[in-house]
Amino acid sequence: MSLAMIEVKDLVKNYGKHTAVDGINFRVRKGEIFGFLGPNGAGKTTTLNILAGLSLPSSGVATIAGLDITKHPIGCKKRLGIATQDANFDHHLNIKDNLYYQGLLYGLSRKELKIRVEAALSWAKLGKYRKKHFHQLSGGMQRRLVVARAMLSDPEIILLDEPTTGLDPQSRRQVWDYIKDLKEKGKTVLLTTHYMEEADVLCDRISIIDNGRIIACGTPDELKKVLNNDIVIDIALDPAVVNVVNRHIEKDLRNISGVNYIKRSDNGIRIGVGDDAVIEQVLNSIITKYKISGINIIHPTLEDVFLHLTGREMR
Ligand SMILES: Nc1ncnc2c1ncn2[C@@H]1O[C@H](COP(=O)(O)OP(=O)(O)OP(=O)(O)O)[C@@H](O)[C@H]1O
Ligand SMILES: [Mg+2]
Repeated sequence: MSLAMIEVKDLVKNYGKHTAVDGINFRVRKGEIFGFLGPNGAGKTTTLNILAGLSLPSSGVATIAGLDITKHPIGCKKRLGIATQDANFDHHLNIKDNLYYQGLLYGLSRKELKIRVEAALSWAKLGKYRKKHFHQLSGGMQRRLVVARAMLSDPEIILLDEPTTGLDPQSRRQVWDYIKDLKEKGKTVLLTTHYMEEADVLCDRISIIDNGRIIACGTPDELKKVLNNDIVIDIALDPAVVNVVNRHIEKDLRNISGVNYIKRSDNGIRIGVGDDAVIEQVLNSIITKYKISGINIIHPTLEDVFLHLTGREMR
């Protein structure tokens, strides 16, 4: 088994009588992007803050590159960079000076730190904005800067708490490219999000967290397999003949293996199939015989998985 960069066992965090993290277990492997997907209040930030040494666990164990976070807090901090949900930039300083002064905390020499700050600004493509203040940057630039700050000490592991919340789709995609670049640099990334698409696109593996508990963990494809019917083929038929044709189609498809269900609808028929290979077979058998007015192929999303597991929508 590949090395666990982060390992969490039976982690609990209580705030008074409220249990924010309720006995979670997970491992993040070296070089992977691991996602924590869950709704508001699920316990994502609490877990990240514990890993980053910003908060103490009530019970349980967490290790960073094999080091126990409570016994070796400094060693753990050296291996980690965190981009918090709250940016915390000093509004009196420009972004370059912000990076410089925050970087002093890592104990680097001034010369080395200056090189790192330049590298961070250049990586985030913010070199020409160095004299600007944080609030003068666009939302996308701000998020890039926050991620770049997490990389100042060149850590092996980067924790990103909701790196794209509040961004428009285009800026979000840009930040995704930066996160993919971290992986290409060999970093291990643990990120939190409540965007299903983000988790799906970026993450090698995902833990779905709800009410402080991990309710499912796996690759995006593995998670989608918990749904009984993988892919839905929605076929619209000519309204004049729909009631006759959909009965014929139903008969034709009954013998195709991999067809999980067939449901007649008002304007056509819905077919649930196990995998992509069956789609072609189903479509061939229909298109050659009947006149159809539309086809829509719906792949299951993590939204469907969350709904299936909790009975609720995430938002
Ligand atoms: N310092 C605190 N004191 C008391 N309760 C807290 C504290 N921090 C978090 N909580 C509670 O713990 C639970 C988990 O909060 P947390 O911030 O970890 O959720 P989250 O998954 O990050 O949510 P979001 O998506 O809104 O950021 C919530 O019910 C929250 O109200
Ligand atoms: Mg949070």
